[in-house]
Amino acid sequence: NDEKRERIYEIKRILGNRLFIPGHHYQRNEVIEFADATGDSLQLAQLSKANRDAEYIVFCGVHFMAETADMLTANNQHVILPDLKAGCSMADMADIAQTEKAWIELQKVYGDTILPLTYVNSTAAIKAFCGRNGGATVTSSNAKAMVEWAFTQKQRLLFLPDQHLGRNTAYDLGIELHEMAIWDPIKHELVCEGPIENVKVILWKGHCSVHEKFTVAQIEELRLTSPETTVIVHPECTFEVVQASDMNGSTHYIIETIRKAAPGTSWAVGTEMNLVNRLAQQHPDKKIFSLNPTMCPCLTMNRIDLDHLLWSLEELMVGNLHYPITVDETTTLEGNLALKRMLDRPS
Ligand code: 13P
Ligand code: SF4
Repeated sequence: NDEKRERIYEIKRILGNRLFIPGHHYQRNEVIEFADATGDSLQLAQLSKANRDAEYIVFCGVHFMAETADMLTANNQHVILPDLKAGCSMADMADIAQTEKAWIELQKVYGDTILPLTYVNSTAAIKAFCGRNGGATVTSSNAKAMVEWAFTQKQRLLFLPDQHLGRNTAYDLGIELHEMAIWDPIKHELVCEGPIENVKVILWKGHCSVHEKFTVAQIEELRLTSPETTVIVHPECTFEVVQASDMNGSTHYIIETIRKAAPGTSWAVGTEMNLVNRLAQQHPDKKIFSLNPTMCPCLTMNRIDLDHLLWSLEELMVGNLHYPITVDETTTLEGNLALKRMLDRPS
């Protein structure tokens, strides 16, 4: 592995500013070592937009992040994902045909009173759908501000594709559970507990399979065995888990909270395994462990490893892009409307 690492450093030296490697916080250590910048999805979107120098952006993250980078960068910049299998099961849960069909159905019920908001963890086509319908993207760092903004535009909103982030955020803003409904894209139906006309937030029935592995039972067990431990979770966890935890927030929030915590404190963290392990390594003066004792890796994030990164860079050196991520012009134009409405607002 030392030889491989040396070769990556050599390629980075040769390409200099022509190459930029962003790395999401959930990436493996062996990849993060080479990242020119690390961040959560909001930070990586902002960095992609700001970078106008790099000819090649080798994106160490998942497919929707590389698509976002391609939409935000200039035409002469190439975005590369070292493994095309690095997708996101949550993003795949909202497909554009299903979404267009749902929209027609929802307009029949609610007319022109709905604004679509999509978590950035979605395909470029879904971002474009939101863009052309007056809506925007959100990340876990700015979801509250964006939902508040959405209600200045329309009476109700459709939140794609993560029901948990949507529900947790809306609840934090004082919206009651009976004012939320779920759109089931498989059954093509709206499910709500209360009267349909009272619905303010329609949640798309999608989820993150990694964050759904944290449970209330794990928190209860910890309260008995380690009452001094603070439980901090990502809002992609279920409503029940977020309610049972002590703190919740985006990846950035989790990192900052733990960084500022006093030495000797103990933290059970409900988010992706690579990040939890890295936090534990970076803060040996604190006790940091995964809320789920069996750990929760994001398998698709983990597709990008040392070998894929090196292979992709070697191919680049001989003029081959593996794999280029390109979003077509119309989708880029409309998707950027949604991204811009988010990036222009303070989070
Ligand atoms: P953030 O980076 O916005 O916290 O999102 C977490 C995530 O699941 C990325 O796929
Ligand atoms: Fe998708 Fe969840 Fe993995 Fe993030 S952690 S990339 S939301 S599957």
